[in-house]
Amino acid sequence: MENRPIEIVQKVFTFEEYKDDTRQSLNVSLPEVLDPHYGMYVWPCAVVLAQYVWTHRQHLIHKSVLELGAGVSLPGVVAAKCGAQVILSDSAEIPLCLENCRRTCKENDLPNILTVGITWGEISPDLLLLPSLDIILGSDVFYEPEDFENVLVTITFLLRKNPEAQVWTTYQERSADWSIESLLHKWNLQCVNIPLENFSANKEQLAGSTLPGNHTVQMMIITGTPS
Ligand SMILES: C[S@@+](CC[C@H](N)C(=O)[O-])C[C@H]1O[C@@H](n2cnc3c(N)ncnc32)[C@H](O)[C@@H]1O
Repeated sequence: MENRPIEIVQKVFTFEEYKDDTRQSLNVSLPEVLDPHYGMYVWPCAVVLAQYVWTHRQHLIHKSVLELGAGVSLPGVVAAKCGAQVILSDSAEIPLCLENCRRTCKENDLPNILTVGITWGEISPDLLLLPSLDIILGSDVFYEPEDFENVLVTITFLLRKNPEAQVWTTYQERSADWSIESLLHKWNLQCVNIPLENFSANKEQLAGSTLPGNHTVQMMIITGTPS
C-alpha cells in the first residue's frame, strides 16, 4: 500500500465571555487530519459541548474529567485549559484516533493529559484503572444507534463507580426516531436536557467557528439514580 504523508489542517477556536466590561477568552488550536474517519474532525456537537465547559469553567478547577470518544478532543482540551485534570479516551481499536488526541495535547502544550483506549461497552483494564471522576464528557457519541447501548453500559459502569459524577453530553438529531429514552430507563439513568440558550450556544457561529450552523444539537446531563 502507498505510504502517503498525513495532511494536517489547524483549526482555531476562540471562546470568550464579557463580564463587568472585562473580556475573558481562551484559544484552542486543533490539528484535523484529512482522513475519512469520524474521529479525525471536530463535529458541531464538540463546539457546543466545549461552550458548555467554557461557561462552567469555575466548577472545573481541579476536577477530574474524562472525555469519551474524544476524537480531536475540543471539550476535553477546554476543560484542561480551565484547570481540570483531564483524561482523553477513544476506541482502543482505533489507534489513529488515540494518536489524534495526543497530537491535540501536544499542539496545546498540555503534556499532563493522559490518553487511554476505552471502547464503549467493554470493561477493560484501562477502564477499571481510571481514577475517581467528577465529570464525564461525550460529544457526538450517540451517533450510531447500534452503539447507543454500549455507550450507556460504559456510562453506567462509570456512574456506579462515581455516584456523584455527571455526564455532560451533546448529540446531533440526525433522524426523527433518534431516542435513548428507553435505554436510559433500562440502565436506571436520569437525564436532563439543557437548553442551548442557557449557555449562549443557540447560535450558528460559536467560538469563531461556523460548525454549529443550522444543525440541531442538543445538550443533556446524565446522572445515576440516587440510592
Ligand atoms: C462522531 S465522532 C465525534 C468525535 C468528537 N467527540 C467530536 O465531537 O468532535 C465519534 C467518536 O467516537 C469514537 N468511537 C467510535 N466508536 C467507538 C467505540 N466503540 N468506543 C469508543 N469510541 C468510539 C470515534 O473514534 C470518534 O472519535
